[in-house]
Amino acid sequence: MGRTQGQSRMAGNTLSIYFGTETGNSRWVAEAIANMSAARSVPATVQDLVNISAEQLSRDSDPALVIISTWNRGKPPFFARRFYADIEAGKTAMNTLRFAVIALGDEHYEHFCACGRNLDMLLEKLGGKRWMPRIELGTDFRSNLAQYEQQLWKHFDKLS
Ligand SMILES: Cc1cc2nc3c(=O)[nH]c(=O)nc-3n(C[C@H](O)[C@H](O)[C@H](O)COP(=O)(O)O)c2cc1C
Repeated sequence: MGRTQGQSRMAGNTLSIYFGTETGNSRWVAEAIANMSAARSVPATVQDLVNISAEQLSRDSDPALVIISTWNRGKPPFFARRFYADIEAGKTAMNTLRFAVIALGDEHYEHFCACGRNLDMLLEKLGGKRWMPRIELGTDFRSNLAQYEQQLWKHFDKLS
C-alpha cells in the first residue's frame, strides 16, 4: 500500500488511487488499475480509505481515483465508514482536488452503487473537479473493468 509504481516516467501526473472496501473487491479493482498504470509507466499510489481523512484527500495534488462499494441500501463499506462520515459532514473544502469515482455494487440491489454515486456528488459539491465521469461496476466487475480502461487513460492523459 502507498507504493509508487512505474517511477521511470519523467513527466506527467501520478494516479492517486484510493479504495474503500468491506470484502476486498474494491481493493482488487484498485490493484488492477495500479497494474494497468505500471504497464503504461504511469506512477500510481494505492491507499486504503480506512487510513484517510477527508482533509488528507483534499490535500492530494495528484488526480485522485476513489473506488468504493455500497452496502445495506447505500451505506459505505465498513472500512470506509469514518472517511465517508467525514465527507458527508461537508466541512472539508475540496477546491483543489481533481477526482473521479469508481462505484462498486450489485445490480440486484435497489440502491445500486448508491454510496459511490453519493460520494461522486458530494466531492463535486465540496468544490472538487471531476476528471472522469463516474464508472459503475456490478457483480461482473472483474471482467467489466477492462472495457473502461481506454476511457480512464483518455481522461487521465488530458490532465495537465
Ligand atoms: C449484505 C450486502 C448488502 C449489499 N448492499 C448493496 C447495496 O445496497 N447496493 C449495491 O449496489 N450493492 C450492495 N451489495 C454488493 C456489494 O457492494 C458488492 O458485493 C461489492 O463488490 C463489495 O465490494 P467490497 O468488497 O469492496 O466491499 C451488498 C452486498 C451484501 C453482501
